[in-house]
Amino acid sequence: MADLFSSYQLKDVTLRNRIAIPPMCQYMAQDGLVNDWHTAHYANLARGGSGLVIVEATAVAPEGRITPNCLGIWNDDQAERLRVIATSIKAAGAIPGIQIAHAGRKASANVPWEGDDHIDAGDMRAWQPIAPSAIAFGGDLSRVPTEMTIDDIKRVQGDFVAAAIRAKEAGFEWLEMHFAHGYLGQSFTSKHSNVRTDEYGGSEENRSRFTLETLAAVRNVWPENLPLTARFGVLEFDGNDEQTMLESIQLVKKWHEMGLDMLSVSVGFTIPDTNIPWGPAFMAPIAQRVRNEAHIPVSSAWGFGTPKLADEAIRNEQLDLVMIGRAHLENPNWSYHAAKILGKDNPAWVLPAPYAHWLSRYRSPAEV
Ligand SMILES: Cc1cc2nc3c(=O)[nH]c(=O)nc-3n(C[C@H](O)[C@H](O)[C@H](O)COP(=O)(O)O)c2cc1C
Repeated sequence: MADLFSSYQLKDVTLRNRIAIPPMCQYMAQDGLVNDWHTAHYANLARGGSGLVIVEATAVAPEGRITPNCLGIWNDDQAERLRVIATSIKAAGAIPGIQIAHAGRKASANVPWEGDDHIDAGDMRAWQPIAPSAIAFGGDLSRVPTEMTIDDIKRVQGDFVAAAIRAKEAGFEWLEMHFAHGYLGQSFTSKHSNVRTDEYGGSEENRSRFTLETLAAVRNVWPENLPLTARFGVLEFDGNDEQTMLESIQLVKKWHEMGLDMLSVSVGFTIPDTNIPWGPAFMAPIAQRVRNEAHIPVSSAWGFGTPKLADEAIRNEQLDLVMIGRAHLENPNWSYHAAKILGKDNPAWVLPAPYAHWLSRYRSPAEV
């Protein structure tokens, strides 16, 4: 039976355990470029012992950034600096992943600690977001986006392809398409945000077209032997969840047939007024349903930061990988913490030797 510390193989990539660090925006970039903050942050996380580190939502185009301080991968300079991160994650023994993203109507926002709302249109840092339809998200993100033309759609799909090529050249071995959280891919699939009357809106088939085409185009350029994954909100908690789940499972099946290797099962966040049952591991049964009905390997996040819960999700075959996010901000060596709590032999040795040797040889410094 697999547990949290069992290795995991997907395509030609083997993770040393089932612990993955999900993408977490740092909002620390200028012009989309990696700087010292990101370099230290990601090296630190990878040295903590997880199997996979996925670099934060990295925009495929300037207008696809959530905030002016998000990372980008729309030019070669950005990719060259991302290479430093991929290399350091790999050197620490984890697999380097990256999430490529377009924020759609949620773009052009202030960083979370400066409001998380849309930047005032008159502010020089603001730009006009684009989306399937000219419908604002609402709440603090009230700016009405411009409806994308067919040319816009084709251009953004090309941006995803170019980003995938750059990600590969920069040394990433795991690619995650961001089709979740109310950003562009998610907002094409949802009736809440897509009221188009052309071939990209209306029927379930038409609302699926953007992600299906984008995924197919990326699969063509992303190496067959490396994992191609997507993050997707399979439901909204908006009272219409069974119908949304059924549609999502159909869509995920199609993605899987086209070459998607794993789904990171998440929440839609397409509208502000929902009733999300926040709680420890609340996504576990939902992810398990996707795993069983779409027959695809799954990961999920949201509240798995207690080692026992994370381990159970693997042992109970609810998840193939467990995403541990904020717990890693609290303790970048969370894998060591989990190894101790779960009674793993030589727990310190999930860390690199310069830490592990001293932590295993003497009593814990906290106990001295
Ligand atoms: C600071 C921060 C930044 C985040 N940025 C992203 C992101 O770039 N892409 C994404 O898909 N999710 C993002 N998320 C969501 C996380 O990937 C994860 O789903 C969330 O933190 C819940 O998992 P946890 O309970 O283990 O923290 C972010 C979360 C946090 C806390």
